[in-house]
Amino acid sequence: MKIAVPSETEPNESRVAATPETVKKYVAMGCNVSVQSGAGAGSNISDGDYAEAGAKIEKNVTSTLKSADIVLKVRRPSDGELRNIKKGAIVVALMDPYGDAEGIRPFAAKGVTAFSMELMPRISRAQSMDVLSSQSNLAGYKSVIDAAAEFNRAMPMMMTAAGTVPPARVFVMGAGVAGLQAIATARRLGAIVSATDVRRVAGEQVASLGAKFVMVEAEEDAETSAGYAREMSEEYKLKQAELIAETIEKQDIVICTALIPGRPAPTLVTKEMVETMKPGSIIVDLAVERGGNCPLSKADKVIDHGGVKIMGHLNLAGRLAGNSSQLYSKNLLNFLEVIIDAESGKLSIDWDDEIIIGTALNRDGELVNPVLA
Ligand code: NAI
Repeated sequence: MKIAVPSETEPNESRVAATPETVKKYVAMGCNVSVQSGAGAGSNISDGDYAEAGAKIEKNVTSTLKSADIVLKVRRPSDGELRNIKKGAIVVALMDPYGDAEGIRPFAAKGVTAFSMELMPRISRAQSMDVLSSQSNLAGYKSVIDAAAEFNRAMPMMMTAAGTVPPARVFVMGAGVAGLQAIATARRLGAIVSATDVRRVAGEQVASLGAKFVMVEAEEDAETSAGYAREMSEEYKLKQAELIAETIEKQDIVICTALIPGRPAPTLVTKEMVETMKPGSIIVDLAVERGGNCPLSKADKVIDHGGVKIMGHLNLAGRLAGNSSQLYSKNLLNFLEVIIDAESGKLSIDWDDEIIIGTALNRDGELVNPVLA
C-alpha cells in the first residue's frame, strides 16, 4: 500500500497531513510513504525528518502521487493534483463539501474515493478522528492570543503603585469547541469572561470554566441530535439581538465562533452594535470563512471601524501549524487504522460502518453522501 503526502498548495495553508510520528506508524503498518519535498516546511518539519521516519522524499507532486493508493491532504486536492491521482485511489482530506459541493464531482467521475474529515460523526469511537475538534480547539486559543496582542491594554487586573489596571472584559459568542477554549484561554490570562450560545447545555460548560453564561430566555433549544446548533426563529433572533446589544457595549474583546453546519454563519454583531463599543476594542471573527458573525469582518483582513479592530484571519489553526499539523495528522492516522486491515496491511473498508457512511463522499463513480444532495 502506497501512501502519498503532497505539499499543500493553497495560500496561507501551512499545515501538512503527516508528521514523522505518523509516517513511522504507517511504515510499521507495512505501508510505503512518499512525501513531497518541502511538504512539512510550514510546520518546521524537514525532508530529513520525514526520511528518518522512513518516508521516501519525492521531488515534485507528480512523482509523489504516482501510483499512490491513499493520498493524505489537508485541503482538497486541486484539479492538477487530481489528474495525477490514479483511478481507484482514496483521498482523505478536508474536502469542503459544504463550501463547494460541485467540486466533489470530478473525484466521483474519475473513480477516486474521497473521504471528508469534516463530516466525521460525533460518536465516542470517532473522537480521536474529529478534525473539527482538534483544529477548532487550537483556533479558539489562537483567537484570544491574537486579540490580546492587538489590544492596547492588559488582560489581567494589575494593582500597582501607580494605580490599578482593570481586567479586560471578554465576550465569547458560541460556546462550542473553539468558544470553550477561547473562554479557558481568556480566563487564564486574567480577563472577566462571559459567553452566549443557543444550546442550553453549553451553559454548564461555560460556568465550569469560571465564565458567566448569558442566554435568551426561551422555550426553544437549538441542539440537534448531532450536537450542533440549528438556525433559530425570527422571534428568537430579535430577542438575542437585544441581549447582545446590551452585553456588547461593555466589552473590550468579542470572540465570534457561532456556526451552523451547512449554513452561512448567523449574523450576531451588527454594525450598530460595533459602533456602541469603546475605541480600542477588538472583535475576532472566527466565523469569517462562512460569512462571519459580524457583517463588517473581511476575510483575511484586520479592519478598523471607528477605532474598533475587527480581525478576520482565515485558518487560525494554521497559524499554529506545529500543533495543528501534529493533531490533524494523528486524526488521519486514527482514520486510516479503520480502513487498513492491521493483519494484512491491505485496504479493508466496511461500508456499513457509521464512520465510513458519515465521511465517504462518493463510491463507484456515484456521490453517496447526503450532504451533497
Ligand atoms: P460549531 O463550530 O458548529 O458551532 C460553534 C458554536 O456556535 C456551537 O456551540 C453552536 O451552538 C453555537 N451557535 C450556533 N448558532 C448560534 C447563535 N445564533 N448564537 C450563539 N451561538 C450559536 O460547533 P462545535 O464547536 O463543532 O461543537 C458543537 C457541539 O458538539 C458542542 O456541544 C461540542 O461539545 C460537541 N462536540 C461533541 C463531540 C463528540 O461527542 N465527539 C466532539 C466535539 C464537539
